[in-house]
Amino acid sequence: MSTIESSPIDTVIASRQSIRAYKKDPVPAGLIEHVLDMASRAPSATNMQPWKVYVLTGNALKRLTDAVCTAFDNEPEKHQPEYSYYPDPPFEPYLSRRRKVGQDMYSLIGIAREDHVKRHQQQRRNFEFFGAPAGFIFTIDRKLPCVNFIDYGAFFENLMLSAKSHGLDTCLQAFWSDYHLIIREQLSLPAEEMVLAGMAIGYAATDAPINRLATDREPVSAFATFLDK
Ligand SMILES: Cc1cc2nc3c(=O)[nH]c(=O)nc-3n(C[C@H](O)[C@H](O)[C@H](O)COP(=O)(O)O)c2cc1C
Repeated sequence: MSTIESSPIDTVIASRQSIRAYKKDPVPAGLIEHVLDMASRAPSATNMQPWKVYVLTGNALKRLTDAVCTAFDNEPEKHQPEYSYYPDPPFEPYLSRRRKVGQDMYSLIGIAREDHVKRHQQQRRNFEFFGAPAGFIFTIDRKLPCVNFIDYGAFFENLMLSAKSHGLDTCLQAFWSDYHLIIREQLSLPAEEMVLAGMAIGYAATDAPINRLATDREPVSAFATFLDK
């Protein structure tokens, strides 16, 4: 445990968590624009700024969520992400960490491993942006190399931290990439844009059990090697 006093930014970082149930209260359009502006202050390799964002609210959000939920209910096997987000084959220590967060989440909301109907319903919440009044779809030009995915990570974190600092919560969602065909059609995406992820943004439903999910982290000593000789 560090003895360094937390800075205001440390406090925001430590208070962010993925939120998977939201109040209906709308997010002011100016605030959404502000957090995107802050996100875009992220560093990027040679300042290429590879991010492209679709902001969905109101009818546009409903049209997309309805279309993707219909596909998720009726033809999930037809939809695959444009990039792989699980290593194949899975391996340690990543497999155990992935399993733990899934088990913790489902046990918190009382859904058994074999309850496929309830698991489907919970996974479906992803495609409703977990009830958030606003959602983002992020794309990247598929011709860009790996380095620009690093840029996008910095952009995402800036976005989530700026949102948190204004009382908003978020959940970054790679699951959306599975339904890129439908998103492409709904948002009229040009062919060169690859659907990277979605993100729910709004005000947390503080009494929802799922929002009590606390995730742990390995200590610094487990992932950092300090070299001074
Ligand atoms: C690239 C990325 C994709 C993610 N995709 C999803 C997703 O599709 N659905 C979801 O519920 N959470 C998703 N998450 C949230 C992670 O599960 C979460 O960040 C992780 O368990 C740590 O928890 P925390 O964000 O509360 O600290 C994603 C996070 C990242 C960084």
